[in-house]
Amino acid sequence: MCGIVGYIGPRNATPIVLNGLKRLEYRGYDSAGLAVLTPQGVQVRREVGKLHRLQALVESEPLAGNLGIGHTRWATHGEPSRRNAHPHLSETGKVVVVHNGIVENFLALREELAAEGAQFRSDTDSEVIAHLIERFLSREADLVEASRQALQLLEGSNAVVVISTLEPDKIVAARLGNAGGVVIGFGEGEMLVASDLPAILEHTRRVAFLEPRQMAVVQAHGAEVMTLERRPVPVQPTVVPWDPVAAEKGAYRHFMQKEIHEQVRGLTDTIAGRVDFEGGKVFLDSLNLTPALARRVRKIFITACGTAYHAGLVGKVLLERIARVPVEVMVASEFRYADPLVSPDDVVLAISQSGETADTLAAMEEGRRKGATLWAIVNAIGSQAMRMADGYISMQVGPEIGVASTKAYTAPLVDLYMLAVLLGDLRGTLPEAERRRLVKDLRLTPDLVGQALAREEEVMAVARAMKEVRSCLYIGRGIDMATAYEGALKLKEISYIHAEGYPAGEMKHGPIALLDEETPVVAIAPQGPWYDKMVSQVEQAKARHARVIAVATEGDELIPPIADAVLWVPPAPWLLSPVVTVVPLQMLAYHIAAMRGLDVDQPRNLAKSVTVE
Ligand code: F6R
Repeated sequence: MCGIVGYIGPRNATPIVLNGLKRLEYRGYDSAGLAVLTPQGVQVRREVGKLHRLQALVESEPLAGNLGIGHTRWATHGEPSRRNAHPHLSETGKVVVVHNGIVENFLALREELAAEGAQFRSDTDSEVIAHLIERFLSREADLVEASRQALQLLEGSNAVVVISTLEPDKIVAARLGNAGGVVIGFGEGEMLVASDLPAILEHTRRVAFLEPRQMAVVQAHGAEVMTLERRPVPVQPTVVPWDPVAAEKGAYRHFMQKEIHEQVRGLTDTIAGRVDFEGGKVFLDSLNLTPALARRVRKIFITACGTAYHAGLVGKVLLERIARVPVEVMVASEFRYADPLVSPDDVVLAISQSGETADTLAAMEEGRRKGATLWAIVNAIGSQAMRMADGYISMQVGPEIGVASTKAYTAPLVDLYMLAVLLGDLRGTLPEAERRRLVKDLRLTPDLVGQALAREEEVMAVARAMKEVRSCLYIGRGIDMATAYEGALKLKEISYIHAEGYPAGEMKHGPIALLDEETPVVAIAPQGPWYDKMVSQVEQAKARHARVIAVATEGDELIPPIADAVLWVPPAPWLLSPVVTVVPLQMLAYHIAAMRGLDVDQPRNLAKSVTVE
């Protein structure tokens, strides 16, 4: 997961940038680098592996200057190597760039630049940014204008930081989408920029965060902020507390809200380095999945608790549809008591944010006892589930602090999708054209989540209308059933409102008796294979005078006239749609609980890591 740090001021930038990168190590990375503007011109040091290797390189080849930028890289395009590590330079070396995110249209941009004669020195998407800025600089624009014009050409959610030998008195920093945050630190006669607060907190507590499509021109004495359209934006630094945990919360009221918003970046990092978009391939190296094992697998048992179990339910649809492998999903607390029919040709796949949940670990032990291969999808690096497993996928979303899981729900959905593609490929059950299409769809995911997040105010209006209800039903079908369960769990655990998730088709077999004006129904009804069925479910609920809140796809014309409120989501490929449809439900639960004045991050009776049976 990439990190950025930059410094401008009277001190030597080198140790400040290196220390800042060190504070971002927890995010994970595979290479690192920095560029400093020295009296001899810009100097760059890049190294593969951990930061101490970059530090050793800097000690053997020192560099010093008052302006520097650094980066920790989690490979997306191109292997981890010195040449692919950031910073990247333009052809003449006058422009230096570090970048977080994925430039979705980089292939087209690279071809265009190559046709103009640009020579590329790395396999990264990021390098095109340096070349593009140089192209505009050569057309008489200054650094700010050249950066602005170049950044407007980039598609995707990106954070970019630029320096140039031509204008050594400034750093240009930009945030292009919902991923890739940018924070500016205001020091005494010095300024910092970073992707995350911990990188700069030891130097200053006065900070300002860029919004999407804003850029900042940072100089030693202050910063100017403007939109990408060059409209000035007033800068109002806020003071964050010293407490590093509280500081991490940044501009958000609660960790849960922050973590909901971090999903764009989390998903970018989830995909990063694991997908070759050109070849249509997925790589999950830490899973240790050989072609022989892939062909041998008879059945996958997914086991998990709570939110992670709901991710498993989506995983069943993905693995069965994409890889054509039979899957059984079991709550972990039942697994070891059910004497499940697990054989040595099966896989037991545990999903766990903490990797320490007692029931999940016990289920893994049961799988081991029966000779199965053990896999785990975990967030906490080095956790017991990770250590126990024969292979694992790490979630790459950074620590989750809010007790209610959000980013650790959407990340495993994407992990399971990638696993399904990889398994289907290795087993020969997934035709190549289909594989390429599925891999291509992946790159849309972070941005689709960003679009869903941008509708937070509309969700708040629905939350206001719902905050006093006593009970509520969430319904969905097929792949959306798990979303109904997850939406209901989110609401009940933090707002203490009774909520139940139900397969929509089961309503008429009992739960429909609950419906009246007092009991709203949240219907998950995006475009997809179950859409028509859900429209008639909504009609049936309306006929019982229930208030219906529908999650529907932008442009839908049938749902708005029959629902009382709509939570809109952008159109998404249906196998990836659970990643998007859950977002308004997370926000709904969050805002209802916050409006009820509850302790959102630490709801009563719950713990983040459930290490007892
Ligand atoms: C709900 C929630 C819990 C966890 C469950 C499993 O928001 O967070 O339901 O999903 O306790 O925890 P992990 O993933 O740590 O095994």
